[in-house]
Amino acid sequence: MPDHSTPDQPYDIILRQGRLLGASDRGEATDVAIRAGKIAAIAPHLKGTAALELEVSGQLISPPFVESHIHLDSALTAGEPRWNQSGTLFEGIEIWRERKQNLSLEDVKKRAIATLRQQAAQGVLFVRSHADVSESSLTALQALLEVREAVKDWLTLQVVAFPQDGIYGGKKNDALIEEAMRMGADVVGGIPHYELTREEGVRSIERIFELAQKYDRLIDIHCDEIDDDQSRFLEVVAAWAIRQDMGSRVTASHTTAFGSYNNAYAFKLLGFLQRTEVNFIANPLINITLQGRTDTYPKRRGVTRVKELWQQGLNVSLGHDCVQDPWYSLGTGNMLDVASMAVHVCQMTGTAEIDACYNMVTWHGAKTLNIEHAYGVEVGKPANLIVLDAADRYDAIRRRATVRYVVSQGKLLAETEPPRMKWNP
Ligand code: FE2
Repeated sequence: MPDHSTPDQPYDIILRQGRLLGASDRGEATDVAIRAGKIAAIAPHLKGTAALELEVSGQLISPPFVESHIHLDSALTAGEPRWNQSGTLFEGIEIWRERKQNLSLEDVKKRAIATLRQQAAQGVLFVRSHADVSESSLTALQALLEVREAVKDWLTLQVVAFPQDGIYGGKKNDALIEEAMRMGADVVGGIPHYELTREEGVRSIERIFELAQKYDRLIDIHCDEIDDDQSRFLEVVAAWAIRQDMGSRVTASHTTAFGSYNNAYAFKLLGFLQRTEVNFIANPLINITLQGRTDTYPKRRGVTRVKELWQQGLNVSLGHDCVQDPWYSLGTGNMLDVASMAVHVCQMTGTAEIDACYNMVTWHGAKTLNIEHAYGVEVGKPANLIVLDAADRYDAIRRRATVRYVVSQGKLLAETEPPRMKWNP
């Protein structure tokens, strides 16, 4: 039942005449009212008043963006101690190995919160970040757990225990990832293609599922982030997800080798994946720059089969992955940049495909993070929404539209004026 406003009980916020975007519609002109942190009422013309009334006629009201894959512990470190000159993933890992020797709690927290503020101002209110747990003090993890607490009044952060150097790549790494679970990481991570042998990669996946079950956590594995067409750990993840019946709690991130598999193998694998509910995250900004570095020509795009996975009904979301770090020195944290790159790299230029890329940074991301129950602009749900200076999804992506208002947990968190141009002929 809608929660009506009375003269004694005005709403906190009313948004007037925005186009309210649903997961599968184009948005009708609607009023949305907020009270006590919840969406209180939605109707074509709401009666009543509010402490804050926002006229958003012709603008888009959308649930917030979901950043389903970022590394906040390394964000804003580009050039420290040196720039990645080859542009490869592996030089990035080497530079990070040096930089992480002098991490401190304050260093990580400061950079992570600065990045989250930058993202929240651009409409991102749900974030899953990886924290490197290959370093014995677990400073990055501790810092991000503290950040999770520090930002919880305006942004929801999930932290993944991510063994950047492999669970079996160092003697203490296995114990460190388990300690990360005890400390309260939300998600178990992994990197099977970077374990020392194929066998250890397979064993690491078994260990990840064991930890997820023991501590009742989600799974998000950096899986086959390499151009090697023989990197085939996704099939192992699918097999474990089927056996343990926990597909919707499992995510395969990057899976760039999928773009290099021969079609006979890829189609067989797609069939296996349809028996799971495994989520996929592609990071097109990063992988279009990192992958294909050993190719001459033709040069591969190095991004997973986003369009085909989506066409098969699998849940695909998109992440930024890096913002100014050893792997990617660019980035602003804007999810419309990510969606736009997916449209280009994955050749998703049909109208339904462009709309799907928008959904990959909103609803699909919420599904990946297992937060669907609290996500969406619906009466009774927590009042998290954004207003975009755009007519529809296509317009938002094409122009990287300004996020005019960000409402988080019932409060106006950020507002941005669209740039204005003055033409002087
Ligand atoms: Fe990543």
